Order: sequence, then structure tokens, then C-alpha cells
Amino acid sequence: MHINSVKLIYFSPTKTTERIVKCIARGIRIDTDTLIDLTPPEVKTRDFEELHDELVIMGVPVYGGRVPPEAAKRLRRIRGNGAAAVIVVVYGNRAYEDALLELRDLAVEQGFKPIAGAAFIGEHSYSSKTMPIATGRPDTLDLEKAKIFGELIRKKIKDIRMPYEMSPVHVPGTFPYRKWNPPSDISLVTDQSRCTLSGICADVCPMAAITVNDTVLTDRRKCIMCSACVKNCPSGARTWEDPWIKRITKWVSRKSKERKEPEMFL
Ligand SMILES: Cc1cc2nc3c(=O)[nH]c(=O)nc-3n(C[C@H](O)[C@H](O)[C@H](O)COP(=O)(O)O)c2cc1C
Repeated sequence: MHINSVKLIYFSPTKTTERIVKCIARGIRIDTDTLIDLTPPEVKTRDFEELHDELVIMGVPVYGGRVPPEAAKRLRRIRGNGAAAVIVVVYGNRAYEDALLELRDLAVEQGFKPIAGAAFIGEHSYSSKTMPIATGRPDTLDLEKAKIFGELIRKKIKDIRMPYEMSPVHVPGTFPYRKWNPPSDISLVTDQSRCTLSGICADVCPMAAITVNDTVLTDRRKCIMCSACVKNCPSGARTWEDPWIKRITKWVSRKSKERKEPEMFL
């Protein structure tokens, strides 16, 4: 199979997915001509050009064992036109459950040919000093594996003679997918005594849910609980004080003590 270029398409509020897909691309060693970052809020209305003869690396984080609904919505704006795709999910060392299968099915629905898939591990969005979960991941070992995965994809592409006759890569997961219904009214707190009104929280929010004037206001109905504002706040003023998040974080931290390793499907 002949590939002209590699395109990276990802949704990545806290950047672990972005780091993994970029590293996979380095392993493939074909020019990466475009990054389609689906994270900023303005993507919601952007038009995307048609894809042709490209290899796409499509990455999303795992939320509740699923593809985050907002990421799925944004991916549905892009048509594959038969382009080969590598599907990647990044999870916080608990479990990825049906996310990879859901991403594969979504890719097929959008006209892509998923030829390979993988689940990698990233620092959990709710990890903190007091409740660390997969801190510092992806680490050197993970990134090394991402590069090897890229090299294996490169070999696979060379061997593919009839891409249109290939069936989609087999990945774990079950359909109907796992149900995930997070509460819709979670409270994020800004400690006004620490806040410097830098506006960084508003800049990194994928949902444009934060407004900063002489105080920080968060539209709870828009928030997808991604933690981008918490992780990027330079003064540590943004914190989760919500009982649901605290309970989940404690549970995940208990369930995720053992280090999980990346899984690859080719
Ligand atoms: C709302 C929400 C739900 C999550 N659910 C899971 C999960 O089911 N399993 C898991 O292992 N990690 C889960 N995580 C952790 C993320 O998958 C993980 O931190 C990932 O690396 C974040 O990707 P990003 O850095 O590209 O945003 C969840 C994170 C959030 C914000």
C-alpha cells in the first residue's frame, strides 16, 4: 500500500494522547504533514478538507471506558474516504474497556480503514500529589513502545497489497458498549487567594466553559471534567472539591496500583 503522508487527528485536553500519537508517527517515518488537534473549542464549527491516500493516526483519551462523547462528536466531522487509520486510546491505568472498539467502529462509520490499534497509558486526569495515578506517564518506556508500534505499522503498510479488501483490525471490547453516565453538575473550585487571573484555564478549556474577568467563572453545564484547567493552572488555584470526583479518584487510585503496559493490535 502506498502512503503519501501521515495525518494526526486527536482530542487531548491534558496532552498525554497528543504525546503518544506524535511518538507513533515518529516510528512510522513518513512525513507528518498535518496535525488536526480536535481539542480547542473552535474546532466545533471548522470544516475539514477531504482525505486521500493518507495514513491517519487517530487518538482519544478514555472516559468511563468509552470514547469521550465530545471527542466522538468532533471526529464525526471528518470523512475518511477509505484512508487507512491507526486508532489509539490513552487511559489512566485503570481500564479502557470498550473505548478502542468504539473508536474503531466510529472510524469505520466515518469511512476510514482501521489497520492497527493500540491502548496506551497516560497520567490520570485526576492524579494529584496526594492521590497519584500513573504519574509521569507516558514515560520513556511507553514512548519507546509507541515508536516500536510505529515501526510495526510501517512494516504492515508495506505488506498490504489490497487495502480495500482488508477487514478492520480486531480489538478488544464488547457491543453494546459500557454505559457511562457521569453527573452533569460537578463543582470545580478556584481559590481566589491563589488565582492570578492569568486566563490560562480559559485558554486550555476545550469547551470554552471558563470566563476570566475580575474573577473566574465556570459554566458547569459545558464542563466535561477533563482537568485541563486544573493541570495547567500555574498557581494551583483550580481544584476538584466535588464529592463525586473525590470518590472516583480514591476508587481509581485503589484499583490502579499495578502498572499496566501498552497493548498493540496489528
Ligand atoms: C471524565 C474522565 C473519565 C476517565 N475515565 C477513565 C477510565 O475509565 N479509565 C481510565 O483508566 N482512565 C480514565 N480517565 C483518565 C484518562 O483516560 C487519562 O488521564 C488520559 O491520559 C487523558 O488523556 P489526555 O491527556 O489526552 O487528556 C478518565 C479521565 C476523565 C477526565
